[in-house]
Amino acid sequence: MRLGVVILAAGLGKRMQSIRPKVLHELAGSPMIWHVIELVCKVFLKNTNEPDLRKIFVVLGFGADQVRTTILDRVPPALIDPLLHQKRLIFIEQPEPLGTGHAVLQTVNHYVPEGLDKILVLYGDVPCIQSTTLQKLLKNACNNNIVLLTTLVANPQGFGRIVRDPATRQIIKIVEEKDADSEQRKIQEIWTGALLSDAKLLAEFLPKLTNKNESKELYLTDIVAYGHERGSTIDAVQPDYPFEVFGVNDKLQLAILEREYQYHQACNQTKKGLQIADLNQFNLRGTLVFGTDCHVDIGVIFEGQIELGNGVYIGPYCHLKNVTVASHSVIQSHCVLEGAEVGPHCLVGPFARIRPGTTIAEGVKIGNFVEIKNSHLQDKVKINHLSYVGDAFVGECSNIGAGTITCNYDGKNKHRTEIGQRVSVGANSSLVAPVKIGEGAIIGAGTVLTKDVGPEQIVYNQITRQEKDRK
Ligand code: UD1
Ligand code: CA
Repeated sequence: MRLGVVILAAGLGKRMQSIRPKVLHELAGSPMIWHVIELVCKVFLKNTNEPDLRKIFVVLGFGADQVRTTILDRVPPALIDPLLHQKRLIFIEQPEPLGTGHAVLQTVNHYVPEGLDKILVLYGDVPCIQSTTLQKLLKNACNNNIVLLTTLVANPQGFGRIVRDPATRQIIKIVEEKDADSEQRKIQEIWTGALLSDAKLLAEFLPKLTNKNESKELYLTDIVAYGHERGSTIDAVQPDYPFEVFGVNDKLQLAILEREYQYHQACNQTKKGLQIADLNQFNLRGTLVFGTDCHVDIGVIFEGQIELGNGVYIGPYCHLKNVTVASHSVIQSHCVLEGAEVGPHCLVGPFARIRPGTTIAEGVKIGNFVEIKNSHLQDKVKINHLSYVGDAFVGECSNIGAGTITCNYDGKNKHRTEIGQRVSVGANSSLVAPVKIGEGAIIGAGTVLTKDVGPEQIVYNQITRQEKDRK
């Protein structure tokens, strides 16, 4: 099978009431169109030659540049070669949004030159189709001219209805909601927006398409009646899960689909052994790997790449983005961590913020209202309350008292603070960087430290005070 994939993404998406192109609205942290492209890559860009994916056509229109750039920015390095160097990914602009049939029509001139025999059409606003479902479509495509992805829904409103011959149950046509009579509107089998057709049939049918319908649009769905009249074989397959084929036309549908998708992800993680406190409050916007006996409490958001070791607990309402948490560490409630590595047996939070470039070794304690940025904390460091530690190194077993601030910014440049092992910094100290504190030193409470301190030294109240008459 020499396959072409057509992804429709030209529509304005009026019902979203947004200036952003519809397909760029995000589901689980990625634009909807990206989910569709990822699915195609997952299914087809394997090392096998069957089916032979020759081209992916993305049909653009409203916000074309924005959609194109978003896609190209996201293509991971491993895919750039197969997608771009061989020019497998092609962007085609639909000059006017005259309908889904008109959108696919923009691609037909490529079918013969590229030697394509089958065309898979996917809609950019149906982002959750799973690879197993796509495989089913592919399997049936070998023996049929058209295979549709259809499903039964309780409320078919807004969808194209699948009209079957009452006697043979063969598919005769798809009727759009606006054109359906009252009997047809009762049909609960709907078309989901995915189909696989012979390239030849599409190339023959699309140029003849007319807009004699209520919407005055060129409907791709009319291909079914066209094929039926000419004796084509038409079959349908169904998805494994209902959420896979939810289309997004407005923000309510987007919000509903987000929850369904997250619920599905949550179930999958629990099947792999993750303990999730509430399946309805799980949020994964990226990838998650975890060891044994990890426990995720309610309202947690995981973003980007997340790795948890064994026996890790993530407390309620934490937000983790591109973070590694090693075994037996506890992140208590309401913490925000980004671009950080937390070592084993650490205790973080509640209400801590760990910013990018931070690495935390073993047995470290970070308490409430502590912010750490671009710093390395060695084993058993304690920063238990109300501190800012930025651009710093803190040696083993050092204790940073409440209210300690590393003054790392002089208004122009950032400077480093280096704190040795076993240092004790008293409460409310300001460490004016660049500054170094030698191992075993003690800094008294309320010190404004502007000079380096040697090992085992005791420093207190080095306040630089300037008193001047204001007049
Ligand atoms: C479409 C189907 C309907 C199906 C439903 C499934 C048609 C005529 N109707 O309806 O049978 O049940 O999807 O979700 O196909 N687009 C373009 N160019 C255009 C028009 C649309 O690229 O000129 C793109 C849109 O960006 C979108 C997709 O095609 O990604 C679907 O268009 P939309 O207007 O949302 O169709 P529906 O009304 O949902
Ligand atoms: Ca739609």
